[in-house]
Amino acid sequence: MVLALAPFLAATDPDQAADALVAQMTLDEKIQLVHGGYTFGGPAGPNDAEEWVSGIPRLGIPDILYSDGPNGVVVGPGTALPSSMASAASWDLNEARKFGQAIGAEVRAAGMDSWLGGNVNLVREPRDGRTFETAGEDPLLAGSIKAAHLAGVQDANLIGTLKHYALNDQETGRLMANSAIGERGARESDLLAFEIALKESNAQSVMCSYNLINGTYTCQNDDYLNGVLKGDWRFPGYVQSDAFASHSSAMSAMAGLDQEEPGGFYFGGAWDVSLESAIQSGAMPEARLDNMVHRILRAMFAAGVMENPPAMGTFDADSDAAVAQEVEEQGAVLLKNANGLLPLDAGKVASIAVIGGHADVGVLSGGGSAQVTPVGGAALTLAPECPATSVGTSGEACHNASEVYDPSSPLEAIRALATGANVQYADGTDIGAAAAMAGASSVAVVFVTVWTSEGMDLDDLSLPNGQDALVSAVAEANPHTVVVVESGGPVTMAWLDSVDGVLEAWYPGQKGGEAIANILFGAVNPSGRLPVTFPKSVADLPRPVVPGPSDPTATTPFDVDYNVEGFDVGYKWFDARGIEPLFPFGFGLSYTTFALANVQATAAGADVVPGFTVSFDVQNTGTRAGAEVEQVYLGLPAGVGDAPRRLVALEKVALDAGASQHVSISVSASDVSHPLSYWNARAKNWEIARGEYVVYVGDSSRNLTEAGRFYYPGPRRGGRG
Ligand code: BGC
Repeated sequence: MVLALAPFLAATDPDQAADALVAQMTLDEKIQLVHGGYTFGGPAGPNDAEEWVSGIPRLGIPDILYSDGPNGVVVGPGTALPSSMASAASWDLNEARKFGQAIGAEVRAAGMDSWLGGNVNLVREPRDGRTFETAGEDPLLAGSIKAAHLAGVQDANLIGTLKHYALNDQETGRLMANSAIGERGARESDLLAFEIALKESNAQSVMCSYNLINGTYTCQNDDYLNGVLKGDWRFPGYVQSDAFASHSSAMSAMAGLDQEEPGGFYFGGAWDVSLESAIQSGAMPEARLDNMVHRILRAMFAAGVMENPPAMGTFDADSDAAVAQEVEEQGAVLLKNANGLLPLDAGKVASIAVIGGHADVGVLSGGGSAQVTPVGGAALTLAPECPATSVGTSGEACHNASEVYDPSSPLEAIRALATGANVQYADGTDIGAAAAMAGASSVAVVFVTVWTSEGMDLDDLSLPNGQDALVSAVAEANPHTVVVVESGGPVTMAWLDSVDGVLEAWYPGQKGGEAIANILFGAVNPSGRLPVTFPKSVADLPRPVVPGPSDPTATTPFDVDYNVEGFDVGYKWFDARGIEPLFPFGFGLSYTTFALANVQATAAGADVVPGFTVSFDVQNTGTRAGAEVEQVYLGLPAGVGDAPRRLVALEKVALDAGASQHVSISVSASDVSHPLSYWNARAKNWEIARGEYVVYVGDSSRNLTEAGRFYYPGPRRGGRG
């Protein structure tokens, strides 16, 4: 017997190292590695892991200890970072990597070696209670941001997991929702986000989801697991099921599932028993089990877990808190600033009425498996009001959740900056009293909150608990009103015309109060941009009502018809249908102004691998330093049937007042995002259509300059195009 072989193999190629270990393992040991334990309703795992897979000490294989989540470690107290959505709204991949690094350091310190937080599901359904965990509606932006999160997490030698594969875009009836979608629709939307995130991050683990796709549960979906993920994308790592998402043993394993997420087998049995009998009966060859184990072990080698097994440690709470503040300062989106109300002048504003949102104690966070217990403890914990859609099994999470406020008081942060002003607070429960206070103040700042969580969807996008009426009453008493929105995603704003300012702060994290105050008073110039379209009304969405099962207590699958919009997710739907959004994808204001000049696009040549370069000068034409997010969109030839435009590149440019910069961005058909291609479902391949392509550049999906056009004549004869 070789003692603790794994650490000695760590320097070798991960595949060879994995094979060397598999060759040493007994059948029982192999089976042990493909399923594990789950804390929910049972004993806590090693180091208090939520889920775990026991290692094999005689070979030096450590335990795999899992922690969620997308906005920070959830095992034990951790830094409550702003939501993943806020990170995406920075449109800044360096910032996103720092966000991932802070999470990674804390997951490591909690004694874990795997992170389950890479939620790259696209926001097809803005009422989805998990919107805050995602990175928005666009495959390129979401895929790139999540890749940066994963890269940051993997810097701490953790196995990074991308989830929930795939098309898990609503919570209503989540265990029986059948996502119905055509191949092209899927490839050019949700699957593309996964493909980008996976290839750009080299993540080693993918979690299959609860839902069905076209009639088959994702964790036993051969087309999606063996076909797309392992076949087309050559994913070398392992597929794990979401908790309770495996529905069979040999059938799932043969379809490509490699590890039943600790938690067991919801519908009877568990993999430890059922896989062994499947092998004994010949229903599953042992070679498949070897491949499953190989994939898990190669992931552990590739991530650096073998050399760096899980151990409890400490983390630098101050530096992670600084990251939390910076991400919020980069990710909050200024949506309206009429009459130059913002930034507030700390020396001139005489009185400020701060109203609502529990702003006296903290800022809101999102619930479910992504819920972080903030360092220092929650400022406030309330029982949530679960929407009517939160019923049945998928609603359990909502009903078990708490509405947690992170300890960062915007009121105190405002007081600290507005030293000369009389700053008063009203909690907003008495609308008349709040309006009276606003009327007697120079400025009113209303904090509004929309709590969301795994296990629920919102019924609509208006503000709950009478907050729309509160804003309207305050604005009527004082038009110099700023609304700060703490939400997981889009909200509708019936009162928009009556207020001067709106700041979308998302779930701001445990330095959110300070970050918001810095933006309100101009210590920070806002530079966040929307990663999701804000609709005027839910009637403008592909599905005005979130589809649900006719009997929420039954387990019969029901259809969620994604063929309605296909690949036209988010802004593409609004553009294709000519619907005016409330605020478009990519939009966000600054306290300075920018101008573009010398905009041009040059085709890289009508070659087998076409592409183009777009170049321009961007100038900060205002009086303060600031950052602009330049967005490059491409219109494909009309006959292709795609949306009018798709995002193909982005760059955030920071400029001092008056400064300018020449920017040149190249886009190639060979980029991982397939920027020039459409999915040809008949040929089962990405193809580039013959025809005219239009390149646009601008600061939102609805404020674009045409940079140029080029004609692609099709692949050269004999070419590979
Ligand atoms: C969630 C996953 C999570 C898992 C383990 C499930 O309810 O859907 O996102 O990783 O629980 O906590």
